Amino acid sequence: MKKIIEIPRITDPRGNLAVIENGVFPHDIKRVYYLHDVPSGAYRGGHAHKECVELLIAVSGSFEVILDNGTTKERVMLNNPSEGLLIDVNIWRELENFSSGAVCLVLASHEYDEDDYIRNHETYKSLKS
Ligand code: TYD
Repeated sequence: MKKIIEIPRITDPRGNLAVIENGVFPHDIKRVYYLHDVPSGAYRGGHAHKECVELLIAVSGSFEVILDNGTTKERVMLNNPSEGLLIDVNIWRELENFSSGAVCLVLASHEYDEDDYIRNHETYKSLKS
């Protein structure tokens, strides 16, 4: 379930430069958003998407993502700006344990559409079974 994508980077004593182009994200990027100033103890996510695929990157700090395919759960720590977590359709995700200063950058294959969300876990489980 866990799919990590290595993000090419140009290392430099002046600081590293990570580049997302040429299919690093295996979809057209229709939307970019980021979570920042997340208070400690906050919980984000808690939904699945029907069509939208997302790539999550901890561009600063760290946080944990719980992936749930309706049968098994997997906890993934993101703390490396050179790694993206690809979340396919129909995967329930929850984000928690944000460090101070953490920023979660998200590349999305679709524009925002509330109808693409499954926000109720019971509904999600019944759709998966
Ligand atoms: P929500 O899905 O709860 O955020 P997260 O999954 O990161 O915890 O979204 C919070 C609010 O922001 C909700 O009202 C929907 C809105 N929203 C947009 O308007 N556009 C977007 O691209 C996203 C991701 C959310």
